[in-house]
Amino acid sequence: MNLSHAKRGQQLFLKHPAACILCHALNGQGSNVGPALDGIASRTTPAYIHESLMEPSKVIAKGYEQFSVSPMPPMGDIFSPQELSDIEAFIQTLK
Ligand code: HEC
Repeated sequence: MNLSHAKRGQQLFLKHPAACILCHALNGQGSNVGPALDGIASRTTPAYIHESLMEPSKVIAKGYEQFSVSPMPPMGDIFSPQELSDIEAFIQTLK
């Protein structure tokens, strides 16, 4: 894996205006609108994570079935393909 991609992904995760951390917790920090993402790469597959980002309403996380439409926006509308691939590289480090 390319670490500098993961680093850029981490910056987007924490600092972008549509930052993941506004809705997700990581290492005890962030918000609990969505599920905590600690260990997400061990619990799920890269394909699942990709779908969660691109089509959040298609795969609803366990425990969030009360949402028929995910509160999470489709990230393909917000981030460039390069940014998305950086974010996915970062998510893959969350083992
Ligand atoms: C507006 C709030 C919001 C934002 C911003 C947001 N999410 Fe989410 N996310 C959610 C909610 C709520 C869920 C649970 C429902 C679902 O599966 O879509 C979720 C689910 C997920 C899941 C599936 C988790 C699981 O345990 O199955 C992943 C992975 C994820 N988000 C990653 C991200 C990443 C990466 C970002 C930043 C690019 C992000 N989210 C930004 C609200 C948000």
